[in-house]
Amino acid sequence: MKYKLIREKLPRHIAIIMDGNGRWAQKRRLPRVMGHRKGIEKAKEIVDHCLEFGIDNLTFYAFSKENWNRSAQEVKTLMDLLSKHLREELPSMVEKGIRFKAIGDIWELPLRLQKRIRETEEKTKDNMNLNLSLALSYGGRAEILEASRRIARDVKDGSISIEDINEDLFSCYLYTDGTPDPDLLIRTSGEKRISNFLLWQTAYTELYIVDIYWPDFDKEAFLRAVHDFQHRERRFGLTGEQLSAGFK
Ligand code: IPE
Ligand code: IPE
Ligand code: MG
Repeated sequence: MKYKLIREKLPRHIAIIMDGNGRWAQKRRLPRVMGHRKGIEKAKEIVDHCLEFGIDNLTFYAFSKENWNRSAQEVKTLMDLLSKHLREELPSMVEKGIRFKAIGDIWELPLRLQKRIRETEEKTKDNMNLNLSLALSYGGRAEILEASRRIARDVKDGSISIEDINEDLFSCYLYTDGTPDPDLLIRTSGEKRISNFLLWQTAYTELYIVDIYWPDFDKEAFLRAVHDFQHRERRFGLTGEQLSAGFK
């Protein structure tokens, strides 16, 4: 294999902005939905690679709050594809030990999809091999606002005090509660933006932007991304010298 990964330096959490499905299809003169179909297949493959390499947490950005502004037809097709995919994949998630969770404003999704999500979460909740999160109707700002509202309510009813509010507590009010922040964020199709994804959680995430459309993101591209991550120096505000001296 071309990219040899270092076992001790695997990212604990990989987050992926799966972008470029539409352009992948358009380039082939296919309807956009074909790109989304192919995109779901790719996501399944990446899940298997994460299981193979022992990555503990994987989050896919599948549908943003802003994506509601796409044509009604594209939105419906995407929702149908996601429902179908969850139904079909449940047995394999159970078998592979995948724990599934949806993050985002789930109540905005069609009821059928909400039902599938609840069922998949319930039936996979004790699994331990991989925490798989799917961001649906997700917006980073909306998530932070909702956390703030809930904190304000808890202060008002006296269950916490203003002095209790710190970064750890705030994190507990986010959809990602219990999941470590992403170490690596991959975005396909070359766009250099975060598009309202995991705004709080990516404060110190390593960004990896690759110029291929999501449906073309294969195992080699995945390994290249993790390999690239493993050869970076994460300084967290320190100097390179401090790190070499073992400053913790
Ligand atoms: C990403 O692919 C999938 C979703 C946002 C649902 P796009 O549909 O954004 O594809 P492009 O960016 O138009 O090529
Ligand atoms: C980001 O992709 C959202 C998802 C991948 C689900 P978009 O295609 O919606 O992002 P922008 O509009 O190019 O920023
Ligand atoms: Mg896009």
